[in-house]
Amino acid sequence: MQRSKHLAMMFLLGAVLVGGALGFTADRVWMKDASCNDPRASRALLSERLDLNDVARETVEFLSTLAVARKVELTSLMTQNTLPILGDRIQLQQVILNLVVNGIDAMKDTPGENRIISVRTSRVDKFATLSVSDRGSGIAEDKLKEIFEPFFTSKADGMGMGLPIARAIVDAHGGRLWAVNNADRGVTFFFTLTRLGSGPAADPATLEAATGPARSWPAGAA
Ligand SMILES: Nc1ncnc2c1ncn2[C@@H]1O[C@H](COP(=O)(O)OP(=O)(O)OP(=O)(O)O)[C@@H](O)[C@H]1O
Ligand SMILES: [Mg+2]
Repeated sequence: MQRSKHLAMMFLLGAVLVGGALGFTADRVWMKDASCNDPRASRALLSERLDLNDVARETVEFLSTLAVARKVELTSLMTQNTLPILGDRIQLQQVILNLVVNGIDAMKDTPGENRIISVRTSRVDKFATLSVSDRGSGIAEDKLKEIFEPFFTSKADGMGMGLPIARAIVDAHGGRLWAVNNADRGVTFFFTLTRLGSGPAADPATLEAATGPARSWPAGAA
């Protein structure tokens, strides 16, 4: 088994185990809180105050060895703004890892100079957003929703679980995860979470609606 595949499998398994152990679905978070004597205690177990930039930086650093091995340039552009969120660090790292590993896989036939993955963060309205862009095969427009279905895979050795798990994690954080084909080549995945302290919760679907099919947004860190 390839090293990257091994890594991805390890993390997928980790996500399932950690998710199962902590009961990390939105419903179960609330059930736990409701049944606990001190709701704040159980919530602290599941969520902590994080900066999405830190989570992204740590994950990119962790993936740098894999990127070198797969001859991919892994670049990151983090916003100067703080991105305070409430979440589970390991679970969010899992999301970023799944997206980057998919991007690496999608560029297996991409010529050397174009083998670039860009991880970016931005602050948009009430949201902290993160995007992962590659210059790989892209995704047929009619498959952009289907790829999030469990067991949908185009890979001989894929399980088709990376994206469903990633979406479940982002959903459990009250956020949104989606994919958009880039104008030139490859695809960009976005996820967006409500920033702590940004006032009443906003609907992240408004951001998804603002990303047109052929745009790579956000273009830079903001
Ligand atoms: N960046 C990408 N570029 C092109 N296609 C992609 C990209 N990311 C995902 N896909 C498509 O979506 C499918 C589902 O991805 P997902 O991560 O859920 O499963 P997988 O990578 O096939 O297997 P695994 O369970 O090991 O992650 C992939 O098989 C691929 O066809
Ligand atoms: Mg995958």
